[in-house]
Order: sequence, then C-alpha cells, then structure tokens
Amino acid sequence: ENNRAASDLDFHQLVDVEAGWIDRRIFWNADIYQLELERIFARCWCFVGHESQFTEPGDFLTTHIGQDAVIVAKDRKGEVNVFLNSCTHRGNRVCFAEAGTARQFTCNFHGWAFGLDGGLVSIHEEEHYSACANFDKSKLGLHRARTQSYKGLIFATFDPEAPSLDEYLGDYRYYLDVLLDNDPGGTEFLEGNVKSRLRSNWKFAAENFVGDAYHAGWTHASAAEAIFGRGVKVNPEKSFQASVNGHGTEFGLDLIGNAMALGEPEVVDYLKENEARFAERLGKLRAKMVGAMSSANVFPNLAYLPGLNTWRTWLPKGAHEIELNTWVLVNRDAPKSLKEAYRRGISRTFSPTGMFESDDGENWEHCTHSNAGVVTRRQKLHYGLGLDSAIDHEEFPGKIHRVQLNDANQRAFYKRWADLMSASDWSSLDNN
Ligand code: FES
Ligand code: FE
Repeated sequence: ENNRAASDLDFHQLVDVEAGWIDRRIFWNADIYQLELERIFARCWCFVGHESQFTEPGDFLTTHIGQDAVIVAKDRKGEVNVFLNSCTHRGNRVCFAEAGTARQFTCNFHGWAFGLDGGLVSIHEEEHYSACANFDKSKLGLHRARTQSYKGLIFATFDPEAPSLDEYLGDYRYYLDVLLDNDPGGTEFLEGNVKSRLRSNWKFAAENFVGDAYHAGWTHASAAEAIFGRGVKVNPEKSFQASVNGHGTEFGLDLIGNAMALGEPEVVDYLKENEARFAERLGKLRAKMVGAMSSANVFPNLAYLPGLNTWRTWLPKGAHEIELNTWVLVNRDAPKSLKEAYRRGISRTFSPTGMFESDDGENWEHCTHSNAGVVTRRQKLHYGLGLDSAIDHEEFPGKIHRVQLNDANQRAFYKRWADLMSASDWSSLDNN
C-alpha cells in the first residue's frame, strides 16, 4: 500500500477527523508531499509579504509559494505583483537577492530583462529574433500569480479558479482583525526577517500553531522557568478554539494572557492601557483577545503568535524540511520603544536563538523522522482530544470548541487538508 500512487489514496481515510486518528504517512511519504505542492500550495492563497515591505516602486522581495520561487515587486503604478522567479528562456533564476529595490530583473544567462510586473521588457541582441515566427514578447513574461491583500497582508495564488481572498479567509477575518485592525494607523513589519531551517514536515509546525496549547505547559516549562522564574499556565477554563476553512486560533479572554506568559512588561502595560481604545474598533470581547490569543495558523502555512506579534511562514523544502521565516508585526503608530520591546521579546522566545523555539523545533523534527521506520509509519497518531467539545457561541464566528486544551483546531486543519487533497477543483469544496 505504501507504493500506491498518492492521487489514488483516500485522504479522508488517512485523516479520520471524525474518529480522531491520523495516518503517519502524511508526514513522510514523498508522493503525498508532491501532491500537496499541486493541490494545496499551487491552489491556496499563500502569504507572500506585508505591504509595509514595499514603500517605493521597485521594492521587491523573493520568496516561495510551495517550492515555486517567486518575486514580489511593486511596480510604478503602485501595484504589488507576484510572478515566478524563473526565466522564460531557459528557466534560470532571474533574481538572486532576498530583497531590495530594482528597476527590472535581468537574467544572467542571455540577458532577457523583465519589468516590475514580470513582463518581458527587452532582450539582448533582439534583432536576431526578428525572423523568429513564434517570438511574441508580450507572451514571454514571467508567469504571474493572482495577488490580493487583506489589511496589509499580501497573498498570492497561482490558481485562476480559486475563490477571492476574502472568501478564502471567510469569517476568519474576524480573528485576523484582532491584530491587524486594533489601531487606526494599521500595522507594519519591522525591518528584516530571520530565516532558519528545521528538519520537520511543514504540517507539524502548522498544527502546532493552529491549536496546540497542550504542549506549552510541558514542552516549554523549563525554558519558562529559566527566563521568567515560573512555568507556563494554559488557561483551562474560559478559553476557546475557533476555526474557519482550516484557519484557526485559540484564546482565553483575559486581556494579557499570552503576552503576560511571554513576559515583556512594556507590552503588557501597553495592552492593559489600551483595552478601551481597542474596544472602539473591535468591540469589548475582541479587545480582550489582543494579547490573549495564544497562537494561530492561516491555512496552509502562515502562522502567528499574538502575545508578541511574531509572524512566520513554514516554507516546505521537501517532505521532511521547512524554511522558517520570522517577522515582527507592530502597530505602525506605536512608540519606538514598544516596537523594540516586541522585537526583543521575540528574539529571546521565538527566533533561532530564542529558548522556546528550540523546544518546539526539536519535537517536530523527531515527530517527522520517527516515520523513517517502516513499521513505525504503519501506525496511526491520536488526535481525539475534545471530540465532543463543540459549542455555539453567540458572538464568535466559525467552529467553536470550548477549552483550548483540545485537538479540535488540528482536526479542522486536517479536514481542510484532506478536502483539498481529494478535490479536483475549488467548486467541489465546501467552506467549513
Ligand atoms: Fe534567461 Fe536565457 S535563461 S536569458
Ligand atoms: Fe511551542
């Protein structure tokens, strides 16, 4: 059975969310991974950057959608474009920098030059092509993705049939707004990002952020003890998990829950002092979530940890490896010292030098690589915590489960995963 073509597999059987079991092969099998690149990463709206990273025309960065290398660039009309970073002549990479400002992107190999919207602008010794019947410059631009943004976050998809970004995010926007829209000036990424590699399947990182408060009090206990002199207490009572279309977050309703757990006093003071101001934009209930959301993942691979506003992507680099990118999100109008407090907090908790990050990474790597054993990967994993915990909530949209110590959001993430892996197109997918 291990050798069956991935597209013949029954993904709703591999991921049995009703019963709470998951087949370990989804974390190891290379064919399943290739199908994920096709059916998830080449279809979904993937995060590519924040608008604050593109202030002037020509500003660009390079990243990946799945394993497709892309350039994200602002053109002279002020539009941000996303297109493949691979020359239409022989496929060479046309941009090697991680970020910068450019007039155009010129290929090293034969000198074809592409504009800020990906269009082919000029080629070296173009006159030689005058007799070339199938040479049409207008058709030889770099392949473009659809690009849309939501309150500063820029997403792109290569699937012309994908629903709009608003529809894709759906009611999850209610939860995104807690961080993206609590202040009239909007948000920005602080300059620079940190990149690191982990030998983990991308889904272990995503599921950890979509809803694994459970690990925090155990995995992070000793680091928390060392940094703050106390353990991590996960709020067991008035807390929830919420999910929409595989996106999910979890939260308590004490204003400074997670921010307090991560211990930057200036951040905690800021959140306390501004609750009433947040409430003007978000309402009373969501104003309490600003520092209290524990973690979140936007399907498939954009995650954030609201307590200190760390935003990250899990870029897949094969079935058993990810590149982790980390940014600091802040309110644009926040005082400079507060922005620094966020940056400092993140660097000592969730960055390659942070004490909590190495706790997590080690677990995900071992969860992934244990499946190298053939007998091991024939076994299933238990995802059954909180199977009967769904509730209706009059204010919170999406699927709501009581108590954040729960596998509910993870099951919702894998349900979306299995739906996408099985569906031939978007029209056969339900929102859930
Ligand atoms: Fe880019 Fe030839 S491969 S110009
Ligand atoms: Fe963790």
